[in-house]
Amino acid sequence: LRAQDTPHWRPALHFSPARHWANDPNGPFLLNGVYHLFFQYNPHGMVWGHTSWGHATSTDLVHWTEEPVAIPARPDEDIFSGTVVLDRDNRSGLGSKAAPPLLAFYTSVYSNTPAHPEGTQAQSISYSVDGGHTWRAHEGNPVLTLQPESRQFRDPSVFWYPDGQCWVMATVVGDAQVVKLYRSTDLLHWSFLSDFQPSGYRKPGMLWEMPLLLPLPLDGNPHDVKWVMIVSVNPWSIAGGSGVEYFVGRFDGTIFTPDALPAPGSDPSRYLWLDHGADQYAMARFANTGDGNPLLIGWMNNWDYASDIPTSPWRGQMTLPVEVALKTIEGRPALVQAPPRAYDDMVRKSGVHAYPDRMLKAGDHLLQPFGGDVLDIHLAIRRGDARRAGIVVRGSADGTIGTSIGYDFIDQTLTLDRAHSGNVGFSPRFSLAHIAHLAAPGGTLSLHLVIDRDSVEVFANDGVLRMTDLVFPPAGSDRVSLFVEGGSATFGAMRVAVLGK
Ligand code: FRU
Repeated sequence: LRAQDTPHWRPALHFSPARHWANDPNGPFLLNGVYHLFFQYNPHGMVWGHTSWGHATSTDLVHWTEEPVAIPARPDEDIFSGTVVLDRDNRSGLGSKAAPPLLAFYTSVYSNTPAHPEGTQAQSISYSVDGGHTWRAHEGNPVLTLQPESRQFRDPSVFWYPDGQCWVMATVVGDAQVVKLYRSTDLLHWSFLSDFQPSGYRKPGMLWEMPLLLPLPLDGNPHDVKWVMIVSVNPWSIAGGSGVEYFVGRFDGTIFTPDALPAPGSDPSRYLWLDHGADQYAMARFANTGDGNPLLIGWMNNWDYASDIPTSPWRGQMTLPVEVALKTIEGRPALVQAPPRAYDDMVRKSGVHAYPDRMLKAGDHLLQPFGGDVLDIHLAIRRGDARRAGIVVRGSADGTIGTSIGYDFIDQTLTLDRAHSGNVGFSPRFSLAHIAHLAAPGGTLSLHLVIDRDSVEVFANDGVLRMTDLVFPPAGSDRVSLFVEGGSATFGAMRVAVLGK
């Protein structure tokens, strides 16, 4: 342990590398009961660079084992984000029928090579025939280049499209704010399908990154399948800096058409955001998880201040994997997110305490009889005549430190306030409060909080609204309290698990 090390911020429920810098999750997949996660990794330092694919495995999506670097950067090629697919029928010919290959699609970023203009980006493949442990570069790389070669063409996201009996790849030209779609039947040769570039949407300096296109039944109806286009945008996100938004629409095998878009120039809150906190980016989908809800994972960070995060000897971690579904919310289709079953099982096994309902009045400030720096908390706040009510987590004994999650019943807004959460001064761009509209049907707001040593994840109203925020409290800030302003409210259905002891 060195003086600058911060073990009190080491996440217990989220993957973080033992040392050094990590950003985007890459090519997560499930094979033979093991979840594999790759990630943008700098094996040599605490800031972005030498971009390689780090690797980790898990059987429960919560406890991760870091593996050796899977795809290292080379002197003339950095390895940017991408996807892994299982080529079950060996259509690529890179494995065999008996041993179907895994194909990792990623972006090659070229430097110091006569073969490509400096800094250009193209899509490449490495493949594995040993279940994802070792990877070899395909000899025909790159498999997809733009003409003229581009410095912003990246983040291949590949999936099987049964209706067309082909694979589809979504990529971006980041600074053009466009998603480009391609198809292939052998995973090696790709032909252009279409561009998705909603008009009136451009923002100065905004990048589009990490596209993800997936089909989802609306309200569980298999006869009403919609397509969701997820895009990470940086900056101009709803909580400032980088964030993840999505579009709901149709995909006919060639073109993605959004159902309805807010008028050009609309307020950003009219768009659909996957997370209303500041620290969710570059969401990727686990491949090969079978039927059922898609499983996604993100990078818990924000490009606004990622390089200044005060953790050591690592910098960068993932968000909790979530299952997503599409439901009609306030009259329009929207993504709903929940932690995966494996997470719930782990919580249940740790022992859950149920608490009796409590009515609190303004000025009451109830310190809960449990404490911990890693907690899973469910509660439902029922309005009496309170204006606001909520919960403070990662609080200090003297009450000066804490992260507050509060609901305003009049304005119908949920706010996560980390202004007093601990170390907030490491970057002037570390935003202090995040606020989002949310209805409270029947005057009740439900919250599910996943509290880790350096983060607070909020799932409100059964995952209708998600807020993910990093926090850096002093060691020992393990108090939880409830508060009410301007009237009374009842805190019900409170269930707590103390985790990661
Ligand atoms: C997103 C991103 C990707 C790129 C990677 C590089 O955070 O900028 O577009 O592939 O990070 O590390």
